[in-house]
Amino acid sequence: MKYCSLVVLFLCGISYCNAIHWLGLTVNGSSVGWNQTHHCKLLDGLVPDQLQLCRRNLEMMHSIVHAAKVTKTTCQKTFSDMRWNCSSIEDAPFFTPDLAKGTRESAVVFALAAAAVSHAIARSCASGDLPGCSCGPAPAEQPGPDFRWGGCGDNLRYGLQMGAAFVDAPMKNSRSGSQATKLMNLHNNAVGRQVLIDSMETKCKCHGVSGSCSVKTCWKGLQDMHDIAAELKSKYLAATKVIHRHVGTRKQLVPKEMDVRPVRETELVYLVSSPDYCARNEKQGSYGTQDRQCNKTSNGSDSCNLMCCGRGYNAYTEKVAERCQCKYHWCCYVTCKKCERTVERYVCK
Ligand SMILES: *[C@@H]1O[C@H](CO)[C@@H](O)[C@H](O)[C@H]1NC(C)=O
Ligand SMILES: *[C@@H]1O[C@H](CO)[C@@H](O)[C@H](O)[C@H]1NC(C)=O
Ligand SMILES: *[C@@H]1O[C@H](CO)[C@@H](O)[C@H](O)[C@H]1NC(C)=O
Ligand SMILES: *[C@@H]1O[C@H](CO)[C@@H](O)[C@H](O)[C@H]1NC(C)=O
Ligand SMILES: *[C@@H]1O[C@H](CO)[C@@H](O)[C@H](O)[C@H]1NC(C)=O
Repeated sequence: MKYCSLVVLFLCGISYCNAIHWLGLTVNGSSVGWNQTHHCKLLDGLVPDQLQLCRRNLEMMHSIVHAAKVTKTTCQKTFSDMRWNCSSIEDAPFFTPDLAKGTRESAVVFALAAAAVSHAIARSCASGDLPGCSCGPAPAEQPGPDFRWGGCGDNLRYGLQMGAAFVDAPMKNSRSGSQATKLMNLHNNAVGRQVLIDSMETKCKCHGVSGSCSVKTCWKGLQDMHDIAAELKSKYLAATKVIHRHVGTRKQLVPKEMDVRPVRETELVYLVSSPDYCARNEKQGSYGTQDRQCNKTSNGSDSCNLMCCGRGYNAYTEKVAERCQCKYHWCCYVTCKKCERTVERYVCK
C-alpha cells in the first residue's frame, strides 16, 4: 500500500496533478470543524494561496468540501455510460494518468470542479451560510408583466470571484508544472465557470389564494450541477487538442489541427491524446471495459458494441424486486405489493 502511494506521488510529481489535489478533501474534509485556522493545515494538498484563503474564509471551506464531493458524484453519474467513467476520481488526492496528464478527461474534471466550487459558494451565500456575502443582487432587467423580482438569488458574482481564487491558485503561483499545462488548466477552469454563468435562469414561486399564482416572485438561480455536468460532457466530446507555441511574441495555446485561430472561450482544450479505454493499461490510466455492463438496445456510447469495443458480451439474468400493484387508500396512504421481475443484463467480455 505504502509502495503504491509512493508510485502515485511520483507520477503526480512529474506530471503536476497537484492542481486538483484539493479534491482529496472528500476524504477527511467533513470530519473537520473548519472553525479554527489551524484546521487549514490538517489536510495537505492546499497550495499556499489556498491556505491563506482558507484561513481568511474558514466558513467557505464547507462549500469547498461539498463541491469536491459534488464533483465526484456528478462526474461519475454523467460519465457512467462511457468507457471512461470517471471512476479514478475516487483516488483523489492521488490521480492516475488519465487525470494527472493534460488529457481530455482531466480537462472536463477541472472544468466541472471549477464550476462546482463557484456553484457551491454562490448557493451558500443565498442560504446565509457565509458571512462575506448574501443574496445576489436583484436583476437589472425589467420584471415581466406577471411577476416581480424578490426572493433570494444565488450570488453568482461572489461565487465566481472566490471560486476562481481558490481553484486557479495552484496554476497562478507555483513554479512546478509546465507552462502549457497551467494554461490548459486555467482555460478549462474558465470554461467551467462560463457554463455556470450561462446556466443562470429565472426561477419563480407562486403566491395568491390557494396557489392560484396571481402573484409571482422570481429570482435568478443556478441550474443543478447535473445540468451543468451534462453541458460539460458535450464540450468534452467536442474538445480541441491544442499545442503551446509562439503566436507573435507570446507563447499561447492554439488548436493543433485547425488553421491559426485562437482557442475559443467555450471549448475545452487538452494537450495529450487519451487511449480508447478499451483495454486495461495502468500506465495510461485505463481500466478497460471488461465486465462493464452494456445496453443491448441502446445505440449510444453505452451500447454493447461501443462499450465492449467489438469484443462481444455475456448475458446473464438477474431478479430485481419492485413495488407493484400499488393502491391508494383514502386518506392518505399507499400500499404496494412486492414483485420480482427477471431482467437480462449484459457485460462486456
Ligand atoms: C485522512 O485521515 C486519516 C486519519 O487521520 C489519515 O491517515 C489520512 O492520511 C487522511 N487522508 C487524507 C487524504 O488527508
Ligand atoms: C468548532 O466546532 C465544533 C463542532 O462543529 C465544536 O465542538 C467546537 O466547540 C468549535 N470550536 C470553536 C473554537 O468554536
Ligand atoms: C466504471 O468503470 C470501472 C472500471 O471499468 C468499473 O469497475 C465500475 O464498476 C464502473 N462504474 C460504473 C458506475 O459503471
Ligand atoms: C438501454 O437503452 C435504451 C435506449 O436508449 C433505454 O430506453 C433503456 O432504458 C436502457 N436500459 C438500461 C438498462 O439502461
Ligand atoms: C439510434 O440511431 C439513429 C440514427 O442512427 C437515431 O435516429 C436514433 O435516435 C438513435 N436511437 C437512440 C436511442 O439513440
